[in-house]
Amino acid sequence: SIAAVASAVGTLCRAAQLGSSSGAVAALGGSHEALRGGDSGCKDKGEAVFLGQELTSLRLCFPQVEPHATIAEIKNLFTKTHPQWYPARQSLRLDPKGKSLKDEDVLQKLPVGTTATLYFRDLGAQISWVTVFLTEYAGPLFIYLLFYFRVPFIYGHKYDFTSSRHTVVHLACICHSFHYVKRLLETLFVHRFSHGTMPLRNIFKNCTYYWGFAAWMAYYINHPLYTPPTYGAQQVKLALAIFVICQLGNFSIHMALRDLRPAGSKTRKIPYPTKNPFTWLFLLVSCPNYTYEVGSWIGFAIMTQCLPVALFSLVGFTQMTIWAKGKHRSYLKEFRDYPPLRMPIIPFLL
Ligand SMILES: NC(=O)c1ccc[n+]([C@@H]2O[C@H](COP(=O)([O-])OP(=O)(O)OC[C@H]3O[C@@H](n4cnc5c(N)ncnc54)[C@H](OP(=O)(O)O)[C@@H]3O)[C@@H](O)[C@H]2O)c1
Repeated sequence: SIAAVASAVGTLCRAAQLGSSSGAVAALGGSHEALRGGDSGCKDKGEAVFLGQELTSLRLCFPQVEPHATIAEIKNLFTKTHPQWYPARQSLRLDPKGKSLKDEDVLQKLPVGTTATLYFRDLGAQISWVTVFLTEYAGPLFIYLLFYFRVPFIYGHKYDFTSSRHTVVHLACICHSFHYVKRLLETLFVHRFSHGTMPLRNIFKNCTYYWGFAAWMAYYINHPLYTPPTYGAQQVKLALAIFVICQLGNFSIHMALRDLRPAGSKTRKIPYPTKNPFTWLFLLVSCPNYTYEVGSWIGFAIMTQCLPVALFSLVGFTQMTIWAKGKHRSYLKEFRDYPPLRMPIIPFLL
């Protein structure tokens, strides 16, 4: 068996001194020899030893890490000595700048000898993905409805709980609410996430984005002085068709992605078109769910002819393009037979 010795290098210690836990890097590694060699500083197995006057170095000794131990098990060992770094907070890597090892990776299958050196990074406080998504999506749903029902202190007393005379305003409320109810239900019943958690700080950023834009859009669309789109019913019908098609497309892709991954697993496969025509976009792009998502918001922007909606679509498109490029690159790296015709998000272009 391999006895692993963990030592944390400078950044961890600086972070500890500052009372911050981000950006910490540590090394796990060692062997019985290293332990016996006397320079490990470990008096007892499993005990953390702080070297130097200040926290300039930290070394941990784990008893008897078996070669077939998984990264998840090593994380649990690390947590035993450092409870503040619960497993979901830890990122263990073979290279300080490399990718995080997966929980299910087995020590002896990694490119390491009898001595393994792993680097640790503190990911910060974590929150479950499901909680994040529910918070992010329930917010816009609720906020939009406050404006739709014109609750007091938004548009002035005489408009309290009044209703718009424009059909498009009611239609927009149905579309907006439908979109977020769909996302909430998909989060609960469709998506099979591979990561249980994400950094807590992201929720503040994401909620500012989703909630802020929802309020801004809803304020204008439900405003008593709102003017319907220039080309009237024709424009609204065309926009509604775009919105509905894209929502169906987005849902179809989410179902196709779900079917790639057996329940409880973290399997990743190349997604291919299925019998459902909405999934045929997989022939041309890696992330058609993002393509359809952007399409939905373009439809909503045409329907309402509202500038904040156009800006929300643009910001969403920019963010999803960045993610789609990253996912596309990962597919190319991971699968040698990845279909060459695909682009990240926009067929033939982007
Ligand atoms: N309006 C906006 O600004 C905005 C921004 C982002 C997202 N969204 C919406 O939210 C939806 C979900 O976003 P997302 O970023 O989570 O989408 P995503 O990364 O495409 O993932 C959707 C689900 O499919 C899984 N998955 C993806 N590729 C897979 C593969 N090759 N094999 C097996 N499973 C795979 C993912 O698991 P993993 O946990 O492994 O990734 C996740 O559970 C989007 O489709 C979009 O409708 C909107």
